[in-house]
Amino acid sequence: MRIFDLFEQYDNIEVRKLTRTNVDILRLLDLILDVFHEQYGLDKNEVEEAIHPMSFALGLYHNEELIGAYIFREDDLSFDDLKNHCDIQIDEQEAESLLRGRGIEGVSLAVRSEYKNRGYGKILIEHSKKLNYDYIWGQQLKLLGNLNHWLKRRTHVATYISETSHEVYITVERIN
Ligand SMILES: CC(C)(COP(=O)(O)OP(=O)(O)OC[C@H]1O[C@@H](n2cnc3c(N)ncnc32)[C@H](O)[C@@H]1OP(=O)(O)O)[C@@H](O)C(=O)NCCC(=O)NCCS
Repeated sequence: MRIFDLFEQYDNIEVRKLTRTNVDILRLLDLILDVFHEQYGLDKNEVEEAIHPMSFALGLYHNEELIGAYIFREDDLSFDDLKNHCDIQIDEQEAESLLRGRGIEGVSLAVRSEYKNRGYGKILIEHSKKLNYDYIWGQQLKLLGNLNHWLKRRTHVATYISETSHEVYITVERIN
């Protein structure tokens, strides 16, 4: 399915929505494995676990090659749940306005290393705002050291310690 004609016009780039039944799902797994193995040393099991909750993904194609992806899980974030499990970073009123409506979790964002720093990640980020949801949220491991990138667009709403004793930030961006 072609849903992003504008970029295709000048750069042979297309964004397509991929579901679990899509023929490209194995290419998606390969892409995430390659990127996260190279960047963070993750193995196949860790990658499969990371993308297990996927509801759908946006795939970024360059001349029919899958070069990037943004994986999503359909799920709302409840402020009451956050209060019970996390250290909250914002007040209740701000949380109410950020978390109104339907949310999705952005689970993984990846662009193949040979295509990085050309604005392709940004195409996926911008395209995610056209999805039919009210806010996108995500969980960022402190040890990845990338919170500042996410805070260009998102608000840091909470922090918790994972079962594996890692500090995790929860960030939210309204898209509607
Ligand atoms: C993150 C990543 C997808 C960016 O792709 P890219 O094509 O190089 O990105 P672009 O050149 O389009 O830059 C887009 C944005 O990515 C952001 N970005 C760069 N590295 C990032 C990172 N590690 N985490 C989150 N965002 C990042 C930048 O802030 C930039 O924002 P700006 O243009 O508004 O300043 C790519 O570097 C990648 O695959 N990294 C390895 C996997 C990863 O760390 N994913 C994020 C955690 S899930």
